[in-house]
Amino acid sequence: MKIAVFVSGRGSNLQAILESGYTKDIVEVKAVVSEKIDCAAFQVAGIYSIPTFTLSNKPGGKSYSEIISLFREMEIELIVLAGFLKLIPKEFIKSFQNKIINIHPALLPSYGGAGMYGMNVHRAVFNSGDRFSGATVHIVNETFDTGRIIAQEKIDISQAKSPEEIAERVLVIEHKLLPFVLNKFANGKVEITDSQIKIL
Ligand code: GRF
Repeated sequence: MKIAVFVSGRGSNLQAILESGYTKDIVEVKAVVSEKIDCAAFQVAGIYSIPTFTLSNKPGGKSYSEIISLFREMEIELIVLAGFLKLIPKEFIKSFQNKIINIHPALLPSYGGAGMYGMNVHRAVFNSGDRFSGATVHIVNETFDTGRIIAQEKIDISQAKSPEEIAERVLVIEHKLLPFVLNKFANGKVEITDSQIKIL
């Protein structure tokens, strides 16, 4: 399965996709896209000789409509947001209906929405005193973190001493959950109907 990965930062989920046993042999990352000119995730792409693209109207950048054409040429089957911070425009979502997924470091529908990214999420979870946190993979729609949920994994954080500790433990879960879901997509084992999303 040919995929593109959208990133904004560190790129540890990108790296997990490239290295996990779930994905290594059946998922091919054809492009890495960011709104940044450079970011650590681009270095990860570089190690694997994956072409990188910057979404920008400045010289050298690409517009969303150029990315749509490019992805059609590349026959991209699924787009994965892995730490991508910008809202995806409507036209882009329409072009890849049910073909854009995101990983979020909490148990949606809690702790999602604008501003709920990175340590903001883990601080909110820590301050809430919740017993569980985890990771969610969901379909991307036109608002932040509200698309239909594909898969979640939860962990007991009742003993966590800090938001940083929660972040660290959730990241370990993310690095398994996202490649697992991609494996299911690649094997045609994600069934999306109007009423439900089922992993077979
Ligand atoms: C992850 O926690 C992901 O869930 C969130 O942003 C973070 C990205 O980390 N959407 P990385 O760039 O994959 O290391």
